[in-house]
Amino acid sequence: MRYLVTGAAGFIGSHLCEALLGQGHEVIGVDGFIPYYPRPLKEQNLLTLHTHSGKFRFHECDLRTDDLDSLLDGVEVVYHLAAMAGLLASWVNFEQYMTCNVLATQRLLESVRRVGGLRQVIHASTSSVYGSQATGDEDSPLNPVSPYGITKLAAEHLVRAYERQFGIPTTILRYFSVYGPRQRPDMGYQIFINAILKGEPITVLGDGTQRRASTYISDIVRGSLLASEHFTPGAIYNLGGADETSLNELIEILEEIIGLKAVIQHGAKRPGEQDRAVANTDRALQSLGYAPEVSLVDGLRQQVSWNRDQRD
Ligand SMILES: NC(=O)c1ccc[n+]([C@@H]2O[C@H](COP(=O)([O-])OP(=O)(O)OC[C@H]3O[C@@H](n4cnc5c(N)ncnc54)[C@H](O)[C@@H]3O)[C@@H](O)[C@H]2O)c1
Repeated sequence: MRYLVTGAAGFIGSHLCEALLGQGHEVIGVDGFIPYYPRPLKEQNLLTLHTHSGKFRFHECDLRTDDLDSLLDGVEVVYHLAAMAGLLASWVNFEQYMTCNVLATQRLLESVRRVGGLRQVIHASTSSVYGSQATGDEDSPLNPVSPYGITKLAAEHLVRAYERQFGIPTTILRYFSVYGPRQRPDMGYQIFINAILKGEPITVLGDGTQRRASTYISDIVRGSLLASEHFTPGAIYNLGGADETSLNELIEILEEIIGLKAVIQHGAKRPGEQDRAVANTDRALQSLGYAPEVSLVDGLRQQVSWNRDQRD
């Protein structure tokens, strides 16, 4: 099969491409290197993909402005992961979130409609569409509390409108905080691990009681692949992780894995931060056979080891 993956140079996109190539598929990777974090990190993410010569083609392309029709030539399934992620910057750089998360999604869907004949468009969404308590099933109320969540919800609505109006076969995956090797440098686990390794202080924003069941990257990739294998048009699935902890408990686990004490300081809670994000994955289990497999401790060990290698 030929897949198009948008956001291919990003954290999750690069892992997904690797898995698709590992299954013998052809992958067209697209990324605009939006400077939310440094381009060299994204270029490094792409390195392993280029070793699958012949099966992987990469196009540097901005979904907001460039021609997309030609990229869809012969493509059967699109994974749309390109977006401005991260909630804090969405308060200060709203235009970029609007254009990369909403306009880019609309342009891609319009192109899919024009080209026609695709088997499936899989859209990567987020637990942030639920708001500060993301704990229920997929039919829970959608009350995003950050501009990031609002733009991702708008993108979901576009996906559903294109499905209803033009019969484009779609699936929406709501990812719950993803971690593991190559995690974005702005994400909490990455910041904490690097700071503890260097003996630098870490800042806990709020009282540290916010709770997560974060998802290890291989689980997110497996769930995303299952969504293509078991396709029900219009379905929405939560994809989440195995073990729930508070932020304070997470830091204790990291201290134990790394073997060093964290130097903790406190700062104000981030506006728009979720209090609890723990996926109910019953629907994904029933329809896709998805359940998270990697425990938090095992996943964090992998990420710490990757961070150590990067430092060395
Ligand atoms: N990482 C998480 O914990 C998490 C959680 C929930 C949902 N998600 C979603 O998963 C997807 C991937 O997230 P990630 O953490 O890998 O982020 P990432 O920033 O590492 O990857 C996203 C990539 O999209 C590219 N991109 C953005 N706008 C683009 C545009 N206009 N044209 C072309 N490329 C563009 C960026 O350059 C980047 O490389 C996003 O849709 C995000 O909303 C991520």
